[in-house]
Amino acid sequence: MKTTLAPNTNELRKISELSAEGAVWQAAPFLARLVEDAAFVEDEILPLLEEAQGAKNWYVARRYGGEDGAHSLQVCVWPPGTGTEIHDHASWGAFACVAGWVLEERYERLDDGSRPDHARLRRAWQLEWSPEHGASTLLPGDGGIHRVANRGDAVAVSVHLYGPKTGGVDGRDYDPSRDHVCDRLEG
Ligand SMILES: [Fe+2]
Repeated sequence: MKTTLAPNTNELRKISELSAEGAVWQAAPFLARLVEDAAFVEDEILPLLEEAQGAKNWYVARRYGGEDGAHSLQVCVWPPGTGTEIHDHASWGAFACVAGWVLEERYERLDDGSRPDHARLRRAWQLEWSPEHGASTLLPGDGGIHRVANRGDAVAVSVHLYGPKTGGVDGRDYDPSRDHVCDRLEG
């Protein structure tokens, strides 16, 4: 990974200095290029497809941080049938699929956010992401409430770029069955 990403270090640093809106605008093409990088796929992704055989849940296989937590590049592995609960992120983010495909469901809030621990959600859209589909972008908090799952029958791998961490909170987890939301602390 280090050799593949070395030329991109400057670009990642520049992206992480932008506002959230500016950063996701730049992060999407960065990830779209990364998933088309044959050396990256061969060196970093293909071994994960082997490694993931038998895994029961999705996991973060690689994590590359910038200086001072200015950004975090992560590689996620999704065995068939696995997926996240509904959540958001404290920072901006973008992800692209590099092997297989994942389904993303995006949600919006119907409440005004004035009641602590309360959130009413409505599903806004869903999209299937595969390597030729580019990158999905997430703004912090309510601008990126989503759930990601592998509904295919092969292992999927995605690359994610997140912006600067803020205040020890990684994001929020939602439980729409009881209109509940709570902070997710950095693990
Ligand atoms: Fe997410």
